[in-house]
Amino acid sequence: MIRSFACERMLPLLALMLALALSPFALAADPGGAKEQAQRQLTQPGNNAPFYRDVREGANPYQTTQVRGVETNILVQPSGQTWRELRPPISLTGGLLIAVALLAVFAFYWWRGPIGMHDPATGKLIKRFSDAERFTHWTVAISVCILGITGLVISFGKVILLPVIGYTLFSWLAILSKNLHNFVAPVFFCALPVMIVLFIRDNFPERGDLKWVLSFGGLFSKSGLESPSGRFNFGEKVLFWWMATILGVVLCASGAVLLFPNFAQGRELMQTANIVHLVCAMVMIFLASFHIYLGTIGTKGAYEGMRTGYVDETWAKEHHLLWYEAVKAGKARQHFADDAPVEVKTQIAEAIKA
Ligand code: HEM
Repeated sequence: MIRSFACERMLPLLALMLALALSPFALAADPGGAKEQAQRQLTQPGNNAPFYRDVREGANPYQTTQVRGVETNILVQPSGQTWRELRPPISLTGGLLIAVALLAVFAFYWWRGPIGMHDPATGKLIKRFSDAERFTHWTVAISVCILGITGLVISFGKVILLPVIGYTLFSWLAILSKNLHNFVAPVFFCALPVMIVLFIRDNFPERGDLKWVLSFGGLFSKSGLESPSGRFNFGEKVLFWWMATILGVVLCASGAVLLFPNFAQGRELMQTANIVHLVCAMVMIFLASFHIYLGTIGTKGAYEGMRTGYVDETWAKEHHLLWYEAVKAGKARQHFADDAPVEVKTQIAEAIKA
């Protein structure tokens, strides 16, 4: 009785173990999974899973495509599924990161307000940025803003905008965004290397950087006094290396792979480029939010400096003391400018008044 019970239980188990052990031989003897597929049709008609599994694994020796090139005979591309699964969580994380940046900027503005000056302006101006620096900076800045906004419409528009503005309007907006993104990208591509060359020499580590880091530039200090820095402070340097150099270059390279698909790159390379582009774009927008805030309403007189090229002597002393001393000693490339136009003087005085 006990014996027959054990046999009843054990036999199917042994059969299963034997089948598993022999399955590699069975598969080897069944290239392309034709037999397995035929058997599956008997038990589950219409279920083509074994066939497509073999196609995906490239095990089917009979698969063929009309496409010639890197995609020859790739009927189903397995990494396409990985890409499809990776994209939504990455977009979501990026979207949350941008929301965190906007909240942080808003909270900082609410807590500290615009960073002003402690001493009154003297009216003596220093030429802080050359015309070439300003032109290049604004070309990059405007193109990044257009690329960022259109990129966000492309990434999140379907989820956020479509339910609100409807199909007709969203369709126009999406087409406009895509074309703007494609045509503005080459402008960024050309201006970025020029900006890197123009600004790189003032973004290397120097005296005062460590002190700036340790006090976080005085951004959170009660006195509101900033740590002395050179032409650019440590925070600006970090943004230069990350935003303009590393992320900018990777965005250009991955964007070029996506923008010009006619250089024999396969789907796998384009999927990788798409993920890299997405991650870098989200981090870029995250960092740019802080830079744009501090370069506009966050610091009085900073925007006017980049717009006109001039800053007041007191502004220079309070924000970049080491650079100001170098200018005064005639050791910097920048110099005092007595010939600044009157309207520029008025604009700067207006911007930095308490
Ligand atoms: C609307 C967008 C932007 C605004 C309003 C803005 C504003 C400013 C301002 C006011 C300065 C001068 C800061 C100072 O005098 O110390 C500056 C510097 C600079 N900005 Fe922007 N900016 C914008 C976008 C960008 C973008 C997208 C990039 C790079 C991808 C960028 C890269 C730089 C660089 C490299 C500097 C010089 C500081 C350094 O080299 O460390 N800016 N920006």
